[in-house]
Parts: sequence; C-alpha cells; structure tokens
Amino acid sequence: MASNITWHDGSVSSEERQSLLKQKGLTIWFTGLSASGKSTLATALEQTLLHSGVSSYRLDGDNIRFGLNKNLGFGPDDRTENIRRISEVAKLFADATVVAITAFISPYRADRDSARQLHKEAGLPFVEVFADAPLDVVEQRDPKGLYKKAKAGEIKEFTGISAPYEAPEAPEVHVKTDQVSVEEGVQQVIKYLVDQGYLAADRLA
Ligand SMILES: Nc1ncnc2c1ncn2[C@@H]1O[C@H](COP(=O)(O)OP(=O)(O)OP(=O)(O)O)[C@@H](O)[C@H]1O
Ligand SMILES: [Mg+2]
Repeated sequence: MASNITWHDGSVSSEERQSLLKQKGLTIWFTGLSASGKSTLATALEQTLLHSGVSSYRLDGDNIRFGLNKNLGFGPDDRTENIRRISEVAKLFADATVVAITAFISPYRADRDSARQLHKEAGLPFVEVFADAPLDVVEQRDPKGLYKKAKAGEIKEFTGISAPYEAPEAPEVHVKTDQVSVEEGVQQVIKYLVDQGYLAADRLA
C-alpha cells in the first residue's frame, strides 16, 4: 500500500465532461456461467451502441487475462483480484464517459458487490446483467469445450462443475438466454438504459 500519495483533481468536473461529450458513462456488468452468453450479448450490445454513435468498450474475460491480468489464475484469491482490477478499469472507462461493458463469469456475489460499491462511491451507474441459462443448457452449448474438459477432470476449479457460482439476487437486468434471442437480450438491456435515462431514446440508430 503506497503512502504519501495525494489525489490530484482535474479542472473539468464529471458533469462538465458529460455535458461536453454529450454522453453519460456507466458500467454494464455481465455475469453468468461459462457459455451463458455474456460475451455474445456484450459484443452485440457494444455493436448496437457504437452504431448509434455511443462510445462503448468491452472488457472481456479471456482477453483481459492475455494482458492486464496475465499473472492471475482461477483460485478464489486470484478470481477476486481479477474482478477487483476489472472493476477499477471499468470505473475509469465509465468516468471517461464511455459505456464500459464487462463480460466475466464473476462468480462471487461479494466481488460483484464490491464492483457495485466502487461505482456508487464514484457516482457512476452500475448495471448488473445476469446472463442466465441452466447448467444442462450451457453444458450442451459448450462452445469452447470447457465443460467436457472440466468433467473429465482436466480443468480444476471450473465454475458450475468444481467451483461455485453465486447467482445475483437482484440484477438490474435478467436475460434468460435459453428463452430469448441474442437480439431480444440486447433490447432488454437497451430498454433498461433508456428507462433509467442513461441513454437517450432518440440517440439510438
Ligand atoms: N440467447 C442467447 N444469448 C446468448 N448466447 C446464446 C443465446 N442462444 C445461444 N447462445 C450461444 O451460447 C453461447 C454463449 O457463449 P459465450 O462465449 O457468449 O458465453 P460466455 O458467457 O461469454 O462464456 P465464457 O465465460 O466461457 O466466456 C454461444 O455459442 C452463443 O451462440
Ligand atoms: Mg466470454
């Protein structure tokens, strides 16, 4: 922990930044089992927002582990540190008025709540989206072949098989990906953003 550090304020307030850039920053936090559809929905949502001229940027699990979090594994402490760093990075993007979209399993409720708290303290909206599909459905999908490997004991600490997943109790948006299409799932999130006033309806393409 560093000591002798002092926060240096900028000369543009958050409100002024938003008004100058005509955009509100926030974080859309996808959580769910592997293959529940987080990346699929996040990618489609990012595309929809960008085509509407809304600056948005996706932070996706594996991608971040290639770089920023390449030194972290999948044990409980590393998972927590993984989410802590992502929360901080998402917050920076949101503060920069970008719509930050994260797609991480983020299995622990406490870690997601910390991410939420961090945003709350910064006065930035945090939208938790539960990409939800039953275990038997995601095992059937298995686009990366990970469930097969986990069940064969080739991957340790795999969420849903040999590591826990703590489902959100009150997510802002609940997308049942075994019941709605990708496009419908994206529209559920967009509708929430518009209803909350985070996104102007007339901005949408
Ligand atoms: N309604 C839907 N929404 C999202 N994905 C769907 C839906 N229906 C089917 N799928 C399929 O489910 C799979 C979801 O995979 P995806 O990579 O998005 O999952 P993920 O949650 O990001 O997993 P991981 O945690 O391993 O990265 C894809 O093959 C996608 O095509
Ligand atoms: Mg993914």
